[in-house]
Amino acid sequence: MTRLLVTGGTGLLGGAVVEGARGRGWDVTASCRRVPGRSPADGVAWAALDLAEPGAAGALVERVRPDAVIHTAAMTSPAEAEADPARAFRVNAAAAGEMAAACARAEARIIHLTTDLVFDGQSGPYGEEDVPTAASAYGRSKAASEAAVAAAHADHVVVRTSLLLGRSARGDRGVDEAMERTLRAGGRARLFVDELRTPLAADDLAAVLLALCGHAYRGLLHVAGPAAVSRYDLGVRIARARGLDLSLLEAVRMADVPGLVPPRAPAPVLRTDRLRALLPALPRPRALDAVLARR
Ligand SMILES: NC(=O)c1ccc[n+]([C@@H]2O[C@H](COP(=O)([O-])OP(=O)(O)OC[C@H]3O[C@@H](n4cnc5c(N)ncnc54)[C@H](OP(=O)(O)O)[C@@H]3O)[C@@H](O)[C@H]2O)c1
Repeated sequence: MTRLLVTGGTGLLGGAVVEGARGRGWDVTASCRRVPGRSPADGVAWAALDLAEPGAAGALVERVRPDAVIHTAAMTSPAEAEADPARAFRVNAAAAGEMAAACARAEARIIHLTTDLVFDGQSGPYGEEDVPTAASAYGRSKAASEAAVAAAHADHVVVRTSLLLGRSARGDRGVDEAMERTLRAGGRARLFVDELRTPLAADDLAAVLLALCGHAYRGLLHVAGPAAVSRYDLGVRIARARGLDLSLLEAVRMADVPGLVPPRAPAPVLRTDRLRALLPALPRPRALDAVLARR
């Protein structure tokens, strides 16, 4: 049985990883900022972790002694990171380096999560060999996290991913559940026709991360959906699949909204040739329509 530490167990991806690991019968410890007051999921040990605190990541790894760590926890709001870049670097980059160094001492493999927004999206699609060119503080903090993890521990995989769909504990973290929540409340959504991403389901990504725990692959790996889609097309497909009012969606171009903060990356599209070369040892993320067809 694998002893797994999942950081960010209360998040969209961390929650999916916890579910997947439990389903495999692994010994799972999940972190959250405060130990949940409610009854935790069966078989999961919860541990408090605040990445803003220097040393906290290392202390948790020393206590849990995992075989592998899937490090999903991060300051994930680009707007919050833009407003407080120093905190974003502390939580996203410095703490990731500490986590990787602690994994090196504990001889635990680390799977670290990062983002397509390490690229400014001006000249994609991007492969693992491309140098980060982030346009936002969030993207820069995640690019710094990639370097920090790689420098601290050889037995790592740095997984860059894209927009995630799925159900989160908070009910608004999946791009599909956020849209559904807005439209069901009668709210309008202004969506860019010229911003492309490669969305995928959080539980498909979780399955790849769990498979990577026992795989020999080391280094950067792009794990994204099989097709690029605009924010607007994504909204239309979500609305159709969920029976929502399409007239609430407004197609806009980025140029129609001057002074976007943080700056948007028009097409940080990830190439996934390396992932495809690792199939079938790693599972393949499903296409968008298959993800949306499931309810
Ligand atoms: N969602 C996406 O579309 C997307 C796209 C590309 C990359 N990613 C990457 O994938 C990873 C997971 O994203 P997600 O969507 O699952 O994020 P999420 O739903 O926002 O969850 C973030 C998790 O990190 C925790 N966290 C935040 N600040 C923390 C801190 N200072 N100390 C300890 N824990 C902290 C949160 O805990 P609380 O519950 O206490 O806030 C939560 O458990 C992230 O590394 C993100 O950069 C996500």
